[in-house]
Amino acid sequence: MQLIDGKVTSKEIRKEIAEEVKQLVATGAKQPHLAAILVGHDGGSESYVSGKMKACEEVGFKSSLIRFEDDVTEAELLAKVDELNNDADIDGFIVQLPLPKHISEDKVTDTIDPRKDVDGFHPINVGRMTIGMPAYISATPQGIMELLKRYEINTSGKHVVVIGRSNIVGRPMSILLSQKGNPGDSTVTVCHSRTAKLKEICLDADIIIAAIGAPGFVKGDMVKEGAVVIDVGTTRVKADDTKSGWRLKGDVLFDEVAPKCSFITPVPGGVGPMTITSLIINTLKSAKKEIYK
Ligand code: GUN
Repeated sequence: MQLIDGKVTSKEIRKEIAEEVKQLVATGAKQPHLAAILVGHDGGSESYVSGKMKACEEVGFKSSLIRFEDDVTEAELLAKVDELNNDADIDGFIVQLPLPKHISEDKVTDTIDPRKDVDGFHPINVGRMTIGMPAYISATPQGIMELLKRYEINTSGKHVVVIGRSNIVGRPMSILLSQKGNPGDSTVTVCHSRTAKLKEICLDADIIIAAIGAPGFVKGDMVKEGAVVIDVGTTRVKADDTKSGWRLKGDVLFDEVAPKCSFITPVPGGVGPMTITSLIINTLKSAKKEIYK
């Protein structure tokens, strides 16, 4: 069994990007610039956005954090989105989710210029990804594709079982892996809460991608010998023996499943560390005009 180390891979990619940025800037290009809009003071969102800003610094990007209080109106937020859409210095930006209930996340996402939508949430980017056009791909699916590539995991002709059908993980994962390419060319089954014979389907899987948000859902008796298991779960559960009082739990019962696997991602330290790096990859692509010429 080999661990897929997202922390190490993420560090490697950031080093490569930092090098590339140095060279870009040396040839006279402007510094890539990522902006983030943060509404309110939710602890999770604060720490996520702070990680994104720190990652920018690490790779030599410029970053801007734009803050609003919880009572910001939808119109004010949309006006800021419009301003960033038209700011030539900004290559990409994100609006950290979730937003307060009085603001429509769909409307905000829809207002972001798809050319600057480095989160890959805009319907145009989702649509382009779906039909295999160049597109910004959202952080988790892109991070998983990068791990599969860098660990040289053969996906061609393999049966991939994706557990979970969310718009930002399960669904895009199923589309990306069924497309032509490497990673890709897989035969994909999407499972969800209504799936019958889930255990039997999982037992046939060469690769399992668990993205349902149910801690320990995938047990040892659901996994074939030699399978590759990608655990996307990050549920916070109370713990007495950690400094924070919390522990991250994956969707996979690691101790039972890991001995049967050829490769497995741990939680924490697997898919998680790749997500912010995916955002950095997308921002660099925007600065280089790789997706929209
Ligand atoms: N909230 C949790 N994850 C994300 C993300 O990837 N992007 C944005 N914008 N908000 C989030």
